[in-house]
Amino acid sequence: MRTKAPKSPVKFTKKFTKKPAQAFGRASAKATKIVVARGARPGSNGANVSYGTNGTNGTARKPAAKPASKSSNKPTSKATSKPTSKGSVGTRHSTYNIFKTTQEFLSTSNPIIYVNGMMVPKSQALVSVYDHGLLYGDGVFEGIRIYNGKIFKCGQHMERLWRCAEMIRLRIPVSRDEMVQILRDCVEANNLHNGYIRLLVTRGAGNLGLDPRKCPTAGVVCIADQIALYSQDQYEKGMKIIVAHRPRTPIECLDPRIKSLNYLNNILGKVEAIDQGCDEAIMLNLDGYVGECTGDNIFVIREGKVFTPPTESGILEGITRRFVMDLCADLGIACNLRNMKPQEVKSADEVFLTGTAAEIIAVTQIDDIKIGHGSEGPVTRRLRDAFHKVVTSSHIPED
Ligand SMILES: Cc1ncc(COP(=O)(O)O)c(C=O)c1O
Repeated sequence: MRTKAPKSPVKFTKKFTKKPAQAFGRASAKATKIVVARGARPGSNGANVSYGTNGTNGTARKPAAKPASKSSNKPTSKATSKPTSKGSVGTRHSTYNIFKTTQEFLSTSNPIIYVNGMMVPKSQALVSVYDHGLLYGDGVFEGIRIYNGKIFKCGQHMERLWRCAEMIRLRIPVSRDEMVQILRDCVEANNLHNGYIRLLVTRGAGNLGLDPRKCPTAGVVCIADQIALYSQDQYEKGMKIIVAHRPRTPIECLDPRIKSLNYLNNILGKVEAIDQGCDEAIMLNLDGYVGECTGDNIFVIREGKVFTPPTESGILEGITRRFVMDLCADLGIACNLRNMKPQEVKSADEVFLTGTAAEIIAVTQIDDIKIGHGSEGPVTRRLRDAFHKVVTSSHIPED
């Protein structure tokens, strides 16, 4: 249950005293190479995708669906109340209808979102189009679970966020304590007991060039909402995934340990999965070893022992992955790091995925190969039960 959103933005009560500045002082003032990628061209055919079923993408956008009636052409805000016009400020452009669903999506007031020092309803939660997070995917983020009103593994998420920010030389403009307070305030403002937090630190607004030194203050956005990646049916029966043809970005180019706002490599892997009627894809490194999935880490079980790829295979060091490894130790289940080829994963007794959003989910088919008996295996079940027991207890670990 959430509280009703206020009509106007509420000023965030905490005053941030630190002078925000990017991490480009003295020693680090020399030119820096940063890998960025731009987003895919959008379609407007209901979903924001423009690829066919054969795995190719980048085809031309279909024309926008015509409005159902004249009345559906009504503006959604006072600022757009004038008839369609070519370019006057505050009027609807002739392309307005293409973005109608977006306008509608943004027109609700819940949840209340933290944006750069302000608590605002969703409809007013906006960042600058000059923010390099948007222009270049320049920034870092965290996905965090709320269980029983507590922030699961809050300490580890903060640790990773700061580590990732450091790796791209991004100075977070608030202290860790202030950041945790932002999370708690968002949870409280939305009266959330169980849910999901998306925390972003963007490079901030700058000019249209790549240079991060032109962005004086990093941006901070915190959304506390709900998330459901997979269906209940998939949790009960396990899911089918594929091995993507596209490899994971190599560590040397963009270290997957950096949870950056640039997820195009993962999205292209996901697109391959969607093209084959699946929701997830295993991504291999350039040597052909299994790394992780597009948004989850992977675990394999053989003869009662659990294996997961090491960091060096090019993965995000998942917080759920670490927690599951701890659970294995608690339950007396051997868990080891191991480089694995896809064949080894496909011939395993059990396979499961972990992630903050996904939690733990069994994989029962990879490409056209059935895993084990084609249903959730006993070790996965045991770990999923143990995980569930912790996150529904009154002692949610916030460390
Ligand atoms: C690429 C990738 N791997 C693994 C994970 C799982 O990490 P965590 O357990 O910290 O959510 C995520 C989660 O977002 C991810 O995006």
